[in-house]
Amino acid sequence: MPPSDNQKITVPILLARKPKGERITAVTSYDYPTTRIISEAGVDLILVGDSLGMVLHGRDNTLQVTLEDVIYHSRLVADAAPRSLVVADMPYGSYHVSPQDAVRNALRCIKEGGAEAVKIEGGRNRFDVVEALLKAEIPVLGHLGLTPQSVHTLGGFRVQGKLRETAQEILEDARELEARGVFAIVLESIPMELARVVTDRLSIPTIGIGAGPHCDGQILVFHDLVGFTRVYLPKFVRQYADLYGIIHTALGAYINDVQAGRFPDERESYHLKGDINELIK
Ligand code: KIV
Repeated sequence: MPPSDNQKITVPILLARKPKGERITAVTSYDYPTTRIISEAGVDLILVGDSLGMVLHGRDNTLQVTLEDVIYHSRLVADAAPRSLVVADMPYGSYHVSPQDAVRNALRCIKEGGAEAVKIEGGRNRFDVVEALLKAEIPVLGHLGLTPQSVHTLGGFRVQGKLRETAQEILEDARELEARGVFAIVLESIPMELARVVTDRLSIPTIGIGAGPHCDGQILVFHDLVGFTRVYLPKFVRQYADLYGIIHTALGAYINDVQAGRFPDERESYHLKGDINELIK
């Protein structure tokens, strides 16, 4: 249900949801018209995800997305989302060199991209970055479990936290990220039982993607959610529409009409008031 009011979603508003058991809705977006629909539909949080590398650029992973890409797309999204909280996804390489570099890059996402927070992937290897960002007054969304920027280290896009050691690590990292001040944590592709424990033990919200129903919120890639793609979708995606099919059918009808001379017809054409022969010799 879209919200009844037009209240601007802020970090404190999202934090206040958890004790009330009010779930957070989140979707990715990368452009102006899509964001208008998403924001007006009432989605709380819009992530300008580095998934744009796969969804918009057609690559196999997110690693080649640049800071310039994220800033450019954040600007388009921020201009179209008066209500939703806009989070820029820091791309691979933009926070891996040093905390100072991370702050410089995150500030560009805020100042040039118009984002209101940033997301970074990782736990214990990123605590110093999280602390530096928060010192610079930049709200941080954490991301644990399957962290797609670690695809080469992980050996593929695999479910994480299935073993005692990795499950324990995810829980500990979540607690430490909370202690350092992130406002929420994305949990990606982990067993639902682990997501439930992490969610129960934190006072900040968890936002799940492939992490089962017990998280405090859910996020999906927009193009997966509305079926604007024919690529393989992971089992956790629920496709709420078939935009690919709708657009394909529409284009087929357009091609047929043009080829058959049915488009445009007279109603879709401009008309002269007078006689054309009086206008030109
Ligand atoms: O880049 C992205 O879209 C993400 C979400 C899948 C959480 O990180």
